[in-house]
Amino acid sequence: MHVPTPRRRCSIVLTALAALLALGARRAPAAVHAPAEWGRLEVQWQEVWPANYGYEKAIDSVKESAQKLGLEYIDLVLPHWPGVSTAIEEAEQNALLRKQTWKALESLKKDGLVKQIGISNYNERHLGELLDYAELRPSASQFEIHPFNTREKLVKRCQDLGIRVNGYSPLGGKGNPNQVTDLLLQSPYLEDLGKQYGKTPAQIILRWHLQRDTTPIPKASTKSRLAENFNVFDFQLKEEEMATISSFDRKRFAVLNSEVFL
Ligand SMILES: NC(=O)c1ccc[n+]([C@@H]2O[C@H](COP(=O)([O-])OP(=O)(O)OC[C@H]3O[C@@H](n4cnc5c(N)ncnc54)[C@H](OP(=O)(O)O)[C@@H]3O)[C@@H](O)[C@H]2O)c1
Repeated sequence: MHVPTPRRRCSIVLTALAALLALGARRAPAAVHAPAEWGRLEVQWQEVWPANYGYEKAIDSVKESAQKLGLEYIDLVLPHWPGVSTAIEEAEQNALLRKQTWKALESLKKDGLVKQIGISNYNERHLGELLDYAELRPSASQFEIHPFNTREKLVKRCQDLGIRVNGYSPLGGKGNPNQVTDLLLQSPYLEDLGKQYGKTPAQIILRWHLQRDTTPIPKASTKSRLAENFNVFDFQLKEEEMATISSFDRKRFAVLNSEVFL
């Protein structure tokens, strides 16, 4: 499991959490625990880091993280990627580790240390494989989604199965080498639409996610951006506007195409 250790990253995250609390949030998508004086802030998800895949290692790493974070339970745990290696000769090993890790998460959920278990970066193939052996179905699936990569088929498949979809890099993943945030936020269509609704292009994109019944998890470092990203619940995009934004789809990954994981 990945716990942010570098001092700078921690201070950015803590600043963002303080701002979130000031905005009234009581749950946050962060792998840290806020100081008690800020009030209770629950951890929304944790990821099992690929180095900790396998039955025993996954169990130990989740227990260790809960202990380090001082938590009686973790709301949601996801394996970070569907593999530890992309090499063809590692395919069987990856599939075995995926299964063992999922079995570990099922066991942690049954024991109550984890409330919900989910998956991250699983494509249709990885999901289909998991459904063959899963005793407990994932509650949530997290993968890259933004208007340049709408992931239509995978979103629908998850939703048909009752799996909640979380979209990461929802604004195009700025900060990653293949980010498309700059292109998206400068789109004349999104700028015009924003003007009509009195919203920014980022807010239009977040609203598009919500109206697809997916949960966007944008990263933002300043209080004003956090507030901006929360302020998306007082307007409704029209069907044709939703369709136009979806038509931006180029199947372009800013972060990772998990097809590489065999
Ligand atoms: N499961 C996975 O494998 C995985 C992979 C990647 C990411 N994630 C998660 O997804 C979260 C978000 O993804 P991401 O950081 O890659 O991409 P993102 O949320 O699409 O983009 C983040 C960038 O957008 C900027 N931004 C935020 N709100 C904005 C606004 N209202 N207007 C203009 N710019 C705005 C941020 O700037 P500032 O920071 O300067 O405010 C940051 O540079 C991350 O926190 C991460 O935890 C998960």
